[in-house]
Amino acid sequence: MATRSREVRLKSRPVGMPMAENFEVAAVDLPDPGPGEILVRNSWMSVDPYMRGRMYDRPSYVPPFALGEALQGGAVGTVVKSNDPKFSPGDLVESMFGWREAFVAPAAAVTKLQNAGVPAQAYLGVLGMPGMTAYSGFHRIGEPKAGETVFVSGAGGAVGATVCQIAKIRGCTVVASAGSDQKTAWLRSVGVDATVNYKTAGNLLKAVQEAAPKGIDIYFDNVGGAHLEVALEVARPFARFIECGMISIYNATEPPPGPRNMSYIVGKRIRMQGFIVIDYIDMREQFYADMTQWVKEGRIKWEETIANGVENAPKAFFNLFTGGNSGKMLVKLD
Ligand SMILES: NC(=O)c1ccc[n+]([C@@H]2O[C@H](COP(=O)([O-])OP(=O)(O)OC[C@H]3O[C@@H](n4cnc5c(N)ncnc54)[C@H](OP(=O)(O)O)[C@@H]3O)[C@@H](O)[C@H]2O)c1
Repeated sequence: MATRSREVRLKSRPVGMPMAENFEVAAVDLPDPGPGEILVRNSWMSVDPYMRGRMYDRPSYVPPFALGEALQGGAVGTVVKSNDPKFSPGDLVESMFGWREAFVAPAAAVTKLQNAGVPAQAYLGVLGMPGMTAYSGFHRIGEPKAGETVFVSGAGGAVGATVCQIAKIRGCTVVASAGSDQKTAWLRSVGVDATVNYKTAGNLLKAVQEAAPKGIDIYFDNVGGAHLEVALEVARPFARFIECGMISIYNATEPPPGPRNMSYIVGKRIRMQGFIVIDYIDMREQFYADMTQWVKEGRIKWEETIANGVENAPKAFFNLFTGGNSGKMLVKLD
């Protein structure tokens, strides 16, 4: 018998801030899995800022989302039927088939998850793509040394909160910026040394200077814009800038002006490098080993913001741009 699945499709390309009218929910009847295929029912879907970039019709490191099709993205689910000997009903799998309740796909296109004693949705957060982004970018580009000062923007989110805690494990002093007092309080509760609420700080430069009086050696940038300009200002000689994301400009309708103080890069000999998590796939085994251990030891903690039902995925997505999520933004499916 066919399996019914609802999915969220991109109906039109957003201009500026995405809106409900850019998305539609449709129901499809899935066929029975063919040879080598599996039927998976998703239990958790990931909601990620990079998905905004795929809504533009322009060349990038990943192709744009096609109009009228379900949005691709990370999800965790359970195998319901399997025509592949490597998978059995009940297996927990991670996939990139995105915002849909269920799907049929070649078994080779999903990853079987080992039970590391963590909730399944952690494989979309600290033990998944955001965790790997934090771990790989921080180590590979940041080259942290104990005693250095690290500044993290977007620190209340999935990537930023993980970076803050890894930096503490590496013996660094951590200064973090986030957009609410609740987020900054949580960051201090997990060991962050000083925090800035950039929405109420008034003068962001002054606030960061007070939080990091000796300057910063590493900047982990999730935000771009004013935060990047401030980081250039407070950077110490030979600082490393890890350019992970620039969410403050993802909805810009015109290219925004660059930081006005880029010339600091020369005099301060700053090294600034962008990266995409897949660049450092060679670190995956080490990432799993370290992160699993740190999670078990309680040295890495996380928050989740959960929306319920596939139809609420767009609303959850909008929240990323208004600070409506603390930690990993997820959609839970029945
Ligand atoms: N390079 C890669 O491979 C890679 C992989 C994953 C993610 N990323 C990037 O990493 C960053 C964080 O991703 P995430 O998944 O962890 O998302 P997230 O931080 O969990 O969610 C986004 C957060 O960004 C903050 N924000 C939104 N607009 C802002 C603005 N104008 N100025 C300052 N902060 C703003 C909001 O928190 P506040 O309350 O603090 O405003 C919001 O909660 C994003 O830029 C994302 O694109 C890059």
